[in-house]
Amino acid sequence: MTEKNNKKTTPEQTEYDKTLDLALRPKKWEDYIGQKKVKKNIQIIIEAAQKRGDKAPEHMLFHGNSGLGKTTLAYLLAKETGAGIRVTSGPAIKKTGELAAILTNLSEGDILFIDEIHRLNKVCEEMIYPVLEEFNLNLVVGNGPMARTVDLNIPQFTLIGATTQLALLSGPLRNRFGATFRLEPYSQKEIQKIIRRSAGLLGVEIKGDSVEKIAARSRFTPRVANRLLKRVRDFAEVKKDGIITPEITEKTFKNLNIDEKGLESGDINILETIIEKFNGGPAGIKAIAAAANENKDTILEIYEPYLVQIDFIKRTSRGRVATKKAYEHLNKEKKEV
Ligand SMILES: Nc1ncnc2c1ncn2[C@@H]1O[C@H](COP(=O)(O)OP(=O)(O)OP(=O)(O)O)[C@@H](O)[C@H]1O
Ligand SMILES: [Mg+2]
Repeated sequence: MTEKNNKKTTPEQTEYDKTLDLALRPKKWEDYIGQKKVKKNIQIIIEAAQKRGDKAPEHMLFHGNSGLGKTTLAYLLAKETGAGIRVTSGPAIKKTGELAAILTNLSEGDILFIDEIHRLNKVCEEMIYPVLEEFNLNLVVGNGPMARTVDLNIPQFTLIGATTQLALLSGPLRNRFGATFRLEPYSQKEIQKIIRRSAGLLGVEIKGDSVEKIAARSRFTPRVANRLLKRVRDFAEVKKDGIITPEITEKTFKNLNIDEKGLESGDINILETIIEKFNGGPAGIKAIAAAANENKDTILEIYEPYLVQIDFIKRTSRGRVATKKAYEHLNKEKKEV
């Protein structure tokens, strides 16, 4: 997904995250914190395939919000099985020829990771169906009256697809995955564990309840946790001896305009609009967008999911409602009408 705004707590990968993601990405199965059920089921699939003597485990689909660990999981799977991994993405494969080149270059047992697989174009998608089922690639060579089809055998491989938007994936493609895994938001405890591990890797000392403070603002997302940790670390280095204390942590977030729940001005604007202009709702999304001077899709994709997740907004059939929790957080009182 592209960066749509300048939110500091956005789960999508920003330029700032690229090297950080790489440096902090778990390289061992044990370092992949949380997602116990997913991990266990993947291990079962791998073992079963090995017992059966299959050349490659079945195709798998990972879905869930940005920054929850889909790419990391794919790399770990390759490591676990000793397989080679080839990484690409739906939007990167523009022509069938490009897809054919990728497929014909795979070796037996390889993993092909296609990120944002919901953005694979239709023609490529249809070309991949027989490959996924029978490892058979039907290629059309030449054009016009000279065109003919050739059937190519593709070595048995495992496709791992990742998507943040499962609903955009076509039924036929979805059905060709042997297993589909949904990555869930992490608990506070798990996020704290991730922050401690990352602090260790970054070689930074972290004191008192700083870990809890960072975790509370991390939107249940490892990528956000790591990014915020690095922000606090940078601030600690500039302002003090590089040690992260609760005081330094608070100051960093004050500077960044991120409150105790991880809300930024954009989030607050949406909440205040519902509370002040619609007396807490219910209000329709279009009306909220107009009153808040925000784009409707930005609200739906960027702001609303987290506000719903922390139970500050409820979606009802008549529109969005600000909850009691939201009122309390913003120190507002509901006006009687
Ligand atoms: N379970 C985990 N344990 C520890 N760290 C994790 C875990 N999951 C993710 N991370 C950290 O978060 C970073 C982002 O994860 P990753 O790139 O795998 O997310 P993603 O789901 O692929 O996101 P996107 O949809 O944006 O591609 C990783 O580089 C890693 O440092
Ligand atoms: Mg990814």
